[in-house]
Amino acid sequence: MPRQMIGLDIGQTAVRGAQLRITRGGITVTRYHEVSLPHGVVSQGDVLDAPTLVAALQQLYDEGDFTTRQARLSIGNRHVYVREHSVKRVPLTMLKSSLRYQIDDVLPLDPDKAVLDYFPASLSVTGGQPTYTGLLVAAETEPLEALAQAIHKAKLRLTGVDLSAFALLRALDPTRPTAGADGQGSGNALDRVLTDLIIDFGAGTTQIVAVHGIRPLAVRMLPSGGDDITEVLQSVDDAAFGEAEAAKASTGYLGGLAQTPAEQAIAAGVDRLVSAISDTITFFHNTTPDLEHIDRVIITGGGSRMPGLQQHLVDLLGLPVYLGQPLQGLRFASAEAESYAYDHLSTCAVALGTMEN
Ligand SMILES: Nc1ncnc2c1ncn2[C@@H]1O[C@H](COP(=O)(O)OP(=O)(O)OP(=O)(O)O)[C@@H](O)[C@H]1O
Ligand SMILES: [Mg+2]
Repeated sequence: MPRQMIGLDIGQTAVRGAQLRITRGGITVTRYHEVSLPHGVVSQGDVLDAPTLVAALQQLYDEGDFTTRQARLSIGNRHVYVREHSVKRVPLTMLKSSLRYQIDDVLPLDPDKAVLDYFPASLSVTGGQPTYTGLLVAAETEPLEALAQAIHKAKLRLTGVDLSAFALLRALDPTRPTAGADGQGSGNALDRVLTDLIIDFGAGTTQIVAVHGIRPLAVRMLPSGGDDITEVLQSVDDAAFGEAEAAKASTGYLGGLAQTPAEQAIAAGVDRLVSAISDTITFFHNTTPDLEHIDRVIITGGGSRMPGLQQHLVDLLGLPVYLGQPLQGLRFASAEAESYAYDHLSTCAVALGTMEN
């Protein structure tokens, strides 16, 4: 029997589900659906209005015509921390059970109030000792439990939690074989040795993932996103949130050409966000020995659709910037599922990439 599961993304603006059929032959997307969330239901991973979130998840299940209730959730917000961490090689189970004693030096978190995990990325010999280099992940328990409770109340069975940064790199994996081709590996060997920087422009969170081939090197979650720009615009224009959203999308980023107060507010908001992204890239370069250089930038998330943003990133970072293509090489069970996902190209990556490693 093929295994089916729903990859779930609870974002600030929508809940998204991708039902995946997993067989030895590969992964097929059998369903994809999204349901919008009103402003203020979820904020940076905090559930502010649980009944509305539960209703949206139920609506997602019903409208999306899902046939399994097994769901795996991806998380990536200000309550989730990822740090590059090297540690002496011991059996992985032993390593994971000792994480609570290691986070003291790495993160300002109470280990009793967090779920911890470790993902080794490479093994080397340092000072004669076999040493793992990898990512230490810590998620605060309380906000995660609120999300789990909403999922449970919507009558879905939560089978696991994933880091949305990992979901992004799976969904945007340039080495994925093309659909229909039975051969293994990438059509393009170059993709295996390039280093990409994935930037997910969300509403409350901007995620940045440095990845070499499909090996994650560094991950950061910035606690700001498109909503911050909309909120400033709302006060400048004295408009409702929805009106400010529409004005932001139609005006876009005008940079130095911005003239009206609204245009200038958008440009300033984007400049702030992009400057934080720039600082993160510098930080990655200074702290991640395996990150020698970045070859390309891949952008995704609703905010990546802002007119003018892609060119601005090219100018500022001096790197090629591509829109993420999460459907490339992916098999769909029906044209309907594929075309729905295509209509949500900028926001479907996290749900589509949510699966066990
Ligand atoms: N055409 C557009 N131009 C500018 N911004 C846009 C456009 N379309 C969507 N956005 C912005 O994208 C953001 C939503 O992105 P997305 O749907 O990826 O976020 P989310 O996943 O719901 O939130 P988060 O990941 O932060 O929890 C909003 O701030 C929205 O204003
Ligand atoms: Mg998101």
